[in-house]
Amino acid sequence: MRIVCVGGGPAGLYFGLLMKKLHPEHAITVVERNQPYDTFGWGVVFSDATMAAMRIWDPESAAEIETAFNHWDDIEVWFKGTRQRTTGHGFVGIGRKQLLNILQRRCMRLDVELAFNQDAGGDLDFPEADLVVASDGLNSKIRNRYAGVFQPDLVVRPNRYIWLGTKKLYDAFTFDFRRTEHGWFQAHIYRFDAETSTFIVETTEEAYIAHGLDRLDQRDSIKFCQELFAEVLGGAPLLSNARHLRGSAWLNFTRLICGKWSHFNGESHVVLMGDAAHTAHFAIGSGTKLALDDAIELARQFEAHGHRREKIPEVLADYEEVRRVDVARIQNAARNAMEWFEVVGRRYADQLEPEQFMYSMLTRSQRISHENLRLRDKNWLEGYERWFARRAGLAVAEDERCVSPMFTPFTVRGVTLPNRIIVSPMAMYSAKDGLIGDFHFVHLGARAMGGAGLVFAEMTCVSPDARITPGCLGLWNEAQAAQWRRLVDYVHDNSAAKVGVQLGHAGRKGSTKVAWEGIDQPLEEGGWPLISASALPYLTQGPIPRAMDRSDRERVTADFVRATELAASTGADWLELHCAHGYLLSSFLSPLTNRREDEYGGGHQNRARYPLEVFRAIRAVWPVDKPISVRLSCHDWTEGGNTPDDAAIFASLFKAAGADLIDCSSGQVWKGEKPVYGRLFQTPFSDKIRNEIGVATIAVGAISEADHANSILAAGRADLCAIARPHLADPSWTLHEAAKIGLTSIGWPKQYYAAKGQYETNLARAAAGK
Ligand SMILES: Cc1cc2nc3c(=O)[nH]c(=O)nc-3n(C[C@H](O)[C@H](O)[C@H](O)COP(=O)(O)OP(=O)(O)OC[C@H]3O[C@@H](n4cnc5c(N)ncnc54)[C@H](O)[C@@H]3O)c2cc1C
Ligand SMILES: Cc1cc2nc3c(=O)[nH]c(=O)nc-3n(C[C@H](O)[C@H](O)[C@H](O)COP(=O)(O)O)c2cc1C
Repeated sequence: MRIVCVGGGPAGLYFGLLMKKLHPEHAITVVERNQPYDTFGWGVVFSDATMAAMRIWDPESAAEIETAFNHWDDIEVWFKGTRQRTTGHGFVGIGRKQLLNILQRRCMRLDVELAFNQDAGGDLDFPEADLVVASDGLNSKIRNRYAGVFQPDLVVRPNRYIWLGTKKLYDAFTFDFRRTEHGWFQAHIYRFDAETSTFIVETTEEAYIAHGLDRLDQRDSIKFCQELFAEVLGGAPLLSNARHLRGSAWLNFTRLICGKWSHFNGESHVVLMGDAAHTAHFAIGSGTKLALDDAIELARQFEAHGHRREKIPEVLADYEEVRRVDVARIQNAARNAMEWFEVVGRRYADQLEPEQFMYSMLTRSQRISHENLRLRDKNWLEGYERWFARRAGLAVAEDERCVSPMFTPFTVRGVTLPNRIIVSPMAMYSAKDGLIGDFHFVHLGARAMGGAGLVFAEMTCVSPDARITPGCLGLWNEAQAAQWRRLVDYVHDNSAAKVGVQLGHAGRKGSTKVAWEGIDQPLEEGGWPLISASALPYLTQGPIPRAMDRSDRERVTADFVRATELAASTGADWLELHCAHGYLLSSFLSPLTNRREDEYGGGHQNRARYPLEVFRAIRAVWPVDKPISVRLSCHDWTEGGNTPDDAAIFASLFKAAGADLIDCSSGQVWKGEKPVYGRLFQTPFSDKIRNEIGVATIAVGAISEADHANSILAAGRADLCAIARPHLADPSWTLHEAAKIGLTSIGWPKQYYAAKGQYETNLARAAAGK
């Protein structure tokens, strides 16, 4: 075959040499507009996995790359006058120039034709080629020509960065955070050869403009960075080798995803590779790795299908299918890491203490978890666990393994939870006349004995017509309070858990069948009239609620107050006001469901007016030494609905009204919602609200292991974690998770104690067997 790679970066060169090596009969040309030794950029880092694959596919170039590598294990963070270091992170770095030179030499030895100084107009310049590889980087002309086919989705990110170098050598991947009068700047620094280190400086657009960096040329920008980072530079100058860039040389990262990666132009097959197909932010240093992995995969597909022109369509289809998955995974991690650096100034740097700031930074991509950090640097992690535990009020000796973050106590007002795990409220649709019955005793009692620090019963409705279904719990009469009292006494007598009551009103989502008879489906008989912020049904064909008027508001507020007084009389420890999931109070908060034109509709203050009235009314009658949390839907997952920015505004209003915590849930407000599910998918909302608004939060949603909870809590992304479905699967989730991470100091109920040792031993044996 005749193959032309347009662009002689890592992707084009490596693919060229692999194909020539695998099948010397191919005629392969790499066309590059620059000179052979002319490239911009400093060092690049890559992962051990990519290196392992390169050793298999071309041991010769891998050996040369490895001898040129700088390897380092440590990460050091300079922050607010502290220098903290951890080890075990394993990076390798190499100069971009050196990498390209090795690949160029290898291409020449294998007889790949290298055509330098040739600026290709596009794929049509090579009509004789069977395959044109568009390895022409982010601004790929070829991709742009067929934009309709490749469907590039380009997003320019808000931060500014400048890619510099220095002759000062660093023995750790170093991050330096510096505050100026206009905001925070960070430097990402790593050594990549015997004389040089990469030094990338990044900041927000606001700080960039406020410092006039948009008006400075490269020389003056460098001078600015040198002064700002003088301490970490120790007097060494900063250098630029981006002479080809005009103006200030500060760039914005562009995130690229393509809908399709290949095309037949009538003569040749065209395929995207490397930065022409996708980009990953330098915060996790994976652009070169992805380019090399693409090259390996395309070569592998030719090996699998055969090195023949007629096989190209299958090869390209399979290449795209395989690479898409890996690229999406890396882009996801890169996005998390990139976003961390975009918000670090306003969300973390001023708020977190240096120890927690360091932990948050290390886990920024959310691919490195708490237990993963233990594997990397046990001493550092255990030191951090001790720091966290002491801050939570535990006395911890210097040499003992202390409990991990989820097992530290949490105090709010006069209530101390023994640990930070909550049984999240879950409707069980098993009540009669709103009464707690045998089912609830067994269900909630078992979960209290299972080790959680706080056990919520399901949404408890403040009046008969506030229920979702006839099977919902209620708290509007003394008989119901009496049953609650029994439950609270049982939990207090038999466990260390506290008891939470979540008060709510179903609003327009009320009067439905129990879940297993048809979720959200209206009752056929015995239903009741609905009320909501506006007269809009939840289901298109569903019953239309009445828009609440003043007397409705007064009645419902009074119902909430009565329910709160009854809850207080039961000795329950914690109250939560349900303002999420499209129920009555949530229907006021969302612009999708609140179309009112009076002072209860419109902007944030107005939409929050009624929920805040209810909050203040219940706060006034709930004991002062007991907390109230507020559950919000932090994202409506629907165009025109609330987003996390809106949720943050509501959180600040509730905080000002005296809410102790915000419980950060999402969705269920609008039937056509499009939630993006995934591990810990709602935790970013909690992180934002906790650290931008300065209020304690509960994270909930797809938190299914101790490792997840510990990572969230340790990084300060939440104060508590609510676990729902895993608690349906396992009432003793908390105790079992403690055993799984080897924390044997967590007590079991005395009646069950005989099983503890055996359970732990079996787990240890299973882990050893693995
Ligand atoms: C600040 C910064 C830091 C980075 N740090 C890292 C890191 O630490 N680790 C990492 O892995 N990656 C890093 N990257 C990303 C990395 O540089 C790219 O992802 C990687 O180089 C992609 O390789 P590529 O071959 O696809 O494209 P490129 O390296 O961009 O190569 C494309 C080539 O095509 C040539 N070309 C373009 N158009 C034409 C044309 N019409 N005719 C002929 N030739 C053409 C260009 O001259 C260029 O040589 C960083 C990027 C930036 C901006
Ligand atoms: C069966 C069931 C019933 C639920 N009922 C309630 C409820 O009454 N109140 C509430 O705020 N959330 C309710 N939820 C939502 C959970 O509290 C939780 O936010 C959600 O399930 C995500 O957590 P998970 O991924 O740990 O399950 C319910 C969830 C389930 C699975």
